[in-house]
Amino acid sequence: MLASAAAAVGVAALLPGRLKPKPTPRLLKRLATASSSASTPPSPRSGGAGVEAEADTTPLFLRPAAHPVAAASLAAFRRRAAELVPDSAPHLHRHLRWLLADAAARDAGADPALLRAPLGDLESLWLRHVRDRRPFQYVVGNEHWRDLVVAVREGVLIPRPETEAVVDMVAKVQGFEAGWWADLGTGSGAIAVAVARMLGPEGRVFATDVSEVAIDVARLNVQRYGMQDKVEIKHGSWFEPLEDLKGKLMGVISNPPYIPTEDLPGLQPEVGWHEPKLALDGGKDGLEHLLHLCEGLSSVLKPGGFFVFETNGNKQSEFLVDFIQTKWDSSFRDVEAVLDFADIKRFVTGYRR
Ligand SMILES: C[S@@+](CC[C@H](N)C(=O)[O-])C[C@H]1O[C@@H](n2cnc3c(N)ncnc32)[C@H](O)[C@@H]1O
Repeated sequence: MLASAAAAVGVAALLPGRLKPKPTPRLLKRLATASSSASTPPSPRSGGAGVEAEADTTPLFLRPAAHPVAAASLAAFRRRAAELVPDSAPHLHRHLRWLLADAAARDAGADPALLRAPLGDLESLWLRHVRDRRPFQYVVGNEHWRDLVVAVREGVLIPRPETEAVVDMVAKVQGFEAGWWADLGTGSGAIAVAVARMLGPEGRVFATDVSEVAIDVARLNVQRYGMQDKVEIKHGSWFEPLEDLKGKLMGVISNPPYIPTEDLPGLQPEVGWHEPKLALDGGKDGLEHLLHLCEGLSSVLKPGGFFVFETNGNKQSEFLVDFIQTKWDSSFRDVEAVLDFADIKRFVTGYRR
């Protein structure tokens, strides 16, 4: 079983008083570090736990099973790791089970166990999760998103469950299978891969990002799902890499950075300390990139073409609908805000006239 980490964010701070009784001296030393650093951002790659483990950016479940470990040593690690987590944080116990499931290449109980990383690396990875509040998805290097297992790593946004809906919106556009689509700010490439898998032989997705890490990770995900013939990855800012596609796209999809700059310090540590600012920071009012995307839409979409943008929610969506209708009423029709599964107006959609 691969690690599913949809609920990974929201990790509770570790409180020494709520830990299990009788910690060993070795554990006590680690907990002192854990509790003293729980409310301040870790200094990334500043030595100590995690450095060796981070050197390999391959998702854990894809690494070769090259590390035999005595079953007793693995059981001792499981106990030590569980002792770091209070009973009041069941999601962390779940993450430990998933970490071991991703790491183990043989049935539970095999002796020796065969692991995809040295036990010392697993220990480091675990400490960084509970101590530095590093998202679990970065620990194991993947996220379950729709029916995909998407590779992720530091420097690329972890795709969120609410974003899954944009793929269903694309599937409702008449004739979408044969269309050319753009996924602007593709990040891990999750949207691009999911859309590409629904397309017919003529359909294409052009996936762009300004981040080189995102381009690398998106390329890996496209290859893993064998979508190289359908997804073209282009490095560059928003519409810049699409110069030769003007007026040819059936649709534009984008989940751009939309968090107002002034809200960034209030993000929960898993997000604010570890996910890339480039993927989050939407500038003043969070609208900087969204407005730029609106400006460029009509030049790349063909008549009748569809667009969907994800936003920060109600106010931003309402503003954009109003803005597009007021400024470009002659260019777009059926512009509306669309609810996500939490009844938040999360998306803005419409069609080019
Ligand atoms: C919120 S993330 C979305 C990632 C992915 N599409 C998803 O839904 O999981 C925004 C993405 O936009 C990219 N981005 C930021 N500025 C950009 C720009 N000027 N041009 C293209 N992409 C940009 C970031 O690197 C990041 O991958």
